[in-house]
Amino acid sequence: MIYFEPINKTFNAEPAFCAEVDSVDDLIAAIAGEDCVPGWIDHQPPLMRGSPQSALKPAHWRYDRMRPALIAAGRVIGTDQAERRNFILRNPVAGNQFATTRTLVGAYQSILPGERARSHKHAPHALRVILESRGSYSVVNGMKHPMETGDIVLTPGDHWHGHGHEGEAQAFWFDCLDIPLVQMLEPMAAQEHPDGWEEGSVECHDSEMRFAWKDTQARLDALDASGAAVADIEYPLFGTTYTLDAPVMPTIAIKVHRMMAGWQGLPYRHNASSIYVVLQGQGCSEIGDQVFEWKFGDVLAAPMGERLRHRADQAAIVVELTDEKLMRYCHFYQCQQLS
Ligand SMILES: [Fe+2]
Repeated sequence: MIYFEPINKTFNAEPAFCAEVDSVDDLIAAIAGEDCVPGWIDHQPPLMRGSPQSALKPAHWRYDRMRPALIAAGRVIGTDQAERRNFILRNPVAGNQFATTRTLVGAYQSILPGERARSHKHAPHALRVILESRGSYSVVNGMKHPMETGDIVLTPGDHWHGHGHEGEAQAFWFDCLDIPLVQMLEPMAAQEHPDGWEEGSVECHDSEMRFAWKDTQARLDALDASGAAVADIEYPLFGTTYTLDAPVMPTIAIKVHRMMAGWQGLPYRHNASSIYVVLQGQGCSEIGDQVFEWKFGDVLAAPMGERLRHRADQAAIVVELTDEKLMRYCHFYQCQQLS
């Protein structure tokens, strides 16, 4: 029989540290220099709470304010001064520098005819929802992807990407990246392309990096025609829903919702934070205790845990960018219909 001796026999010796402690206050004082805190005391903010609650706020950004600002930016800032001519949508909570929701950041971006935004790559996953464009494009790892109104174009982490515009009119889109998540997890890395631009790119119309609007529209039509839309558990909450199949985007789920004019959803709450981008129509969303009237091009932030309810006053298309996929992977996701 083999008996193992304690590796460090000093543990069997009379401990000097804390030997004189005979009260809780003395104990807390004694360990104050050990970079630890007692687990049994109250913490602010608390380590746990009874239900999900985000520190971020419901918020709304109006395209009829941001579009003129982007046009002005086109006059006063060149791509030589701003590698990406964009406005980041900062959640209006004190101390927040850039995050739109806990895990995602959104931005309006614009490019002028004839311009190029040089290629780079970074750890964060990114995508863009095209609001207004004829003739702009993204080059992703050497493949040239058209960016037309209603398209959704992906640039997964560690993929080279740059943007250009061969059309006649200024192009506008909405960017979404998981930068807040990457900053929290700390694998951030970014790099400029050594040539500044990926020359010799190949035109690509069929790619897992691009969801063309005509294909998205066909998928929504098919869901409605087959009856699958109304059978979907999401239909009472957010109308006909087409979830894009984008395995290259593990942290951002992309859902396209179509609501008929006059459609009114049921209230719900779920364990995910979302950004809504209005592609068509107008309507209203209740997020927490706030009510936001929205129309084409507007963006809303719906933080985790808020009561949600949506309504369409005109036939509407809303793109939802959400960390729901991440929440499901972690087994955190729940969705509750409310009365
Ligand atoms: Fe980028």
